[in-house]
Amino acid sequence: MTSHEDVFGQEAAATCFAPGRVNLIGEYTDLIGGNVLPMPLTKGITVTAGPAASGIHAFSTAEETKIEINLGEGKKDHWADYVAGPLVMAERAGAVIPPLNLMVESDLPAGAGVSSSAALEVATLKALFAFIGQDTSGAEVALLAQKAENEFCGVKCGIMDQMAVSVGKQKHALALNCETLEWDQVALPKGWTIAVIHCGEARQLTDGAYNERRAALDKAAAELGPDPLKSQPVEVAEQISDPLVARRVRHVLSEQARTLRATEALRSGDMALLGGLMNESHESLRVDFEVSTASLDRLVAAARDAGAAGARLTGAGFGGCIVAVVTENERDTWWQKVSSECPAAWAVEL
Ligand code: GLA
Repeated sequence: MTSHEDVFGQEAAATCFAPGRVNLIGEYTDLIGGNVLPMPLTKGITVTAGPAASGIHAFSTAEETKIEINLGEGKKDHWADYVAGPLVMAERAGAVIPPLNLMVESDLPAGAGVSSSAALEVATLKALFAFIGQDTSGAEVALLAQKAENEFCGVKCGIMDQMAVSVGKQKHALALNCETLEWDQVALPKGWTIAVIHCGEARQLTDGAYNERRAALDKAAAELGPDPLKSQPVEVAEQISDPLVARRVRHVLSEQARTLRATEALRSGDMALLGGLMNESHESLRVDFEVSTASLDRLVAAARDAGAAGARLTGAGFGGCIVAVVTENERDTWWQKVSSECPAAWAVEL
């Protein structure tokens, strides 16, 4: 295994890890300050930070390339944008960034919709702050990481992924309010497990489609104002003049209501109710939000037929993964059935 010292000739002074995430329910609700229920994975990204003679250098063990980062330059459409962007935001927020060597090591599948970019942003910031000895809370780190994604990388994402990977706790779902950033950790009930299955189709380049969904919701909020969209009943969608925008709104408002119910179902161990709400969430994402694909739909159907309590696409959609809730006892036979039905699918290790 390559070490920081092998690459830079000097040991690392700080090592920080951020996991990937899967979202149980609450898709695109972060864009209206709603609620979400993501869970960290065990796999993730480790960033080590150490002193440099001059400049800022990042090395990725996967790419085996060392990149010089100049904070005065913009994005390069390259993995190192997810290192440079967070550093730029930290500097804007007042951090003094010394000459720095960073090494990035990942065991997360990239482009699978499990938030490898948020994990890289958050691990970079945590390694920087540990290295310079600046006390920064998990939520502050998440907000800086989101700013990097929004302003440096140009994806107008919400706060879910960065919060999930910054403050989430292993084997717990993070019940997060994306407006107040209040959260608590909800354990999975005994005997149940979460399966994250990739449909075999890489997530397509979605930045444009993602930003379009956000623009539709902003347009609806302006048309319906002054109350925030989140506080309005789902029927309000019928008053919207543009039918496409109306469907987008119907998804986020119905999803917000489902997420609140699903969080209570998880707390009380009612996995049949949680599963049913997950199934409804997938339908809403497929029909109203239009972010599913034929492969995701097939995999979700196979997961349900094989006995999952519920299954849905997870994350932004357009390829990538589904999440399913299954009993621990049935997990292996369930997966045999699903994989024989969908041979291109593969299981993401939790
Ligand atoms: C991406 C974004 C999140 C969220 C999800 C959809 O993962 O980064 O902010 O909007 O899509 O729920």
